[in-house]
Parts: sequence; C-alpha cells; structure tokens
Amino acid sequence: MASKVLHFDSRDTFGVGIVTDGKKILANVKDSYTTEQGGIIPSKAMEHHVSCFDFVISSALKKAKISIHDIDLIAFSQGPGIGHTLRVGCMAARTISSVAKKPLIGVNHCISHLEIGSMLTASKNPVLLYVSGANTQIISYEKGRYRILGESLDGGLGNFLDTLARELGFGFPGGPKIAELAENGRNLIELPYVIKGMDISLGGILTNAKLKIKSGKYSKEDICYSVQETVFAMLVEAAERAMSHTGKNELLLGGGVACNKRLRNMCTSMCKQRKAKCYCPENEFCVDNGVQIAWLGILMNKAGMVTKLNDAVMRPYERVDDIEVQWKPK
Ligand code: FE2
Repeated sequence: MASKVLHFDSRDTFGVGIVTDGKKILANVKDSYTTEQGGIIPSKAMEHHVSCFDFVISSALKKAKISIHDIDLIAFSQGPGIGHTLRVGCMAARTISSVAKKPLIGVNHCISHLEIGSMLTASKNPVLLYVSGANTQIISYEKGRYRILGESLDGGLGNFLDTLARELGFGFPGGPKIAELAENGRNLIELPYVIKGMDISLGGILTNAKLKIKSGKYSKEDICYSVQETVFAMLVEAAERAMSHTGKNELLLGGGVACNKRLRNMCTSMCKQRKAKCYCPENEFCVDNGVQIAWLGILMNKAGMVTKLNDAVMRPYERVDDIEVQWKPK
C-alpha cells in the first residue's frame, strides 16, 4: 500500500496532511492561530493547538476517506519552532504512534519547505529562499547536507513584519496587511539597507521604521511600501549572490512570506535577467502545511530512517545543516 502520512506543525498552524508515496495529496487540513491586535503569544498558540488537534486530525482522515489504521507512517515537525507548539505536535504524534502502532519520523520543518517545493514544481536542484515567521535563510544542497548560505542575523522576516504590523495597530499575521497597504504606497522612504555577503539584518530597519511611524510624518501606506521594497531588494540581492556562488540556475521560494506577490515578482525578474528559473509553489504550500512534513517523512522513511519513541522530542533550535540527508544522492 502507498504510504500515507500524518503531520503536525510547529508555530501558529496546527495542520495535518495525508500524502501517498506516489505524490498524491489526499488531505491538507489546518487551523491557524490569529489575533485581531498584537502578535503571537506562545502559550495562547499552544492552547489553540490543544483545542483543535483532534478536530483537525479527524477532518483530514474524513477528507482522505480513510481511517487511522490505513496510515503507514506518522511524520511530525521536530524543529525548529516555538517550544510550546512543537510540544503539542510531538505529543499528538507520539500518542497516535503508540496507540495505532505506526512508525514515527521526526522531520526538520525548514527542509520540508524545500522538499515540498521540489515535489510540486519542476525544480531539480534549486537555491531556496526560505522566508517565514522565524526563519529567513538562503539554503542550498551540497554534498549530503542542506547548507545555509545566508540568513537574517537577527530574526525572521515574518516576525519582523508582524512586529511592524503591531506598531501600525494591526493583528497577527501582519504580513498580508502590510502587503495590502504597500500596494497604495507611492513614496519610497529611505531606510537602512543592511546586507553583508549573503546575510541580512532587519533590526536596524525595524527601529528606523518604528521611529518614522512615531514621527507621524509618513503615511502607513508609504511605510509599508518602503519596507517591502527595501527588505525584499536585500533578499533578492542575497539570493542572486547565492545562485552565482553555487552556479545554480533555479530559485525556489518557500515559507509564508513567499506568498507576497511583490517578493515573487522581484525574484522572478531577477531570475529572468540571469536566465534562471524562479519556482513559487501555490500559496497553500508556501505557508506551513501538513503535506510538507508528510512528504519529507516519506522521503526519509524510504531511505530507512525512523524515529524511536524516546527520540521523538522537540528540537526548537535545530538547523538544516544539523541534518544528515540520507534520502538524496551525495
Ligand atoms: Fe515554515
């Protein structure tokens, strides 16, 4: 029977994906923690996950028209992420694995963005621009490991946008609201442009933007527009440098911020100029989803990897280069 895999997620989303090893997506169900005002509160996000996990799991099984006994493997996000919410996913995975007697596989959340992007697009060996809440990294597979070629030195782009949105009086997640306002921005306000090699820094830009908001001299639209233009240009520059360094001619976008149309357009136009290809999965698979974890679980399990029950613990600080990639040719 084709493998069917459940997944549990790590941050604001509790998602369950059911996928076969023939790449057939049977279900992708999720429930996300949101706020009307202010950012993510880890303990509240955990409460959210605890309150919805049984419903999300049963909805996914219903959608796939199978029972838990038809599942061959349980995959879960082991890290990185917020400890509060990772723990809920680990507990759910361990419990179902024990009760239903199914093997477990713990996967790295960041790598799963790359693998689902490769599964869903025609990309073969891309550089990944991974832009989510806590993660902003440029990743490339080289000699048995995913390597981080560049990253934000002081926080993820999504968290940066959420903080900015909070300053502007919006709730969580803040990125979509900023993108909406940016469309009506007309005046480019000068902000720090902080890039060093393939690394970027967002802290100074945030401080500068906060001061500009407090000054009352600038419209919200112009601030959002200027922040997007500045920060996205930094990311595109770093991504292009990584492509040039590795000699790769494919760029793959992943993570929630990769849904941003302006970022997609800027990446596409950079790739066009250097005769490379830019791959953007559909929004449903850029944002955190159960399918990405399930698919990586299948790849790892096919390579003979399993996670023992006692090792099925969260790893909030795990990095992609900690993982020995056994499912790809060296
Ligand atoms: Fe993610």
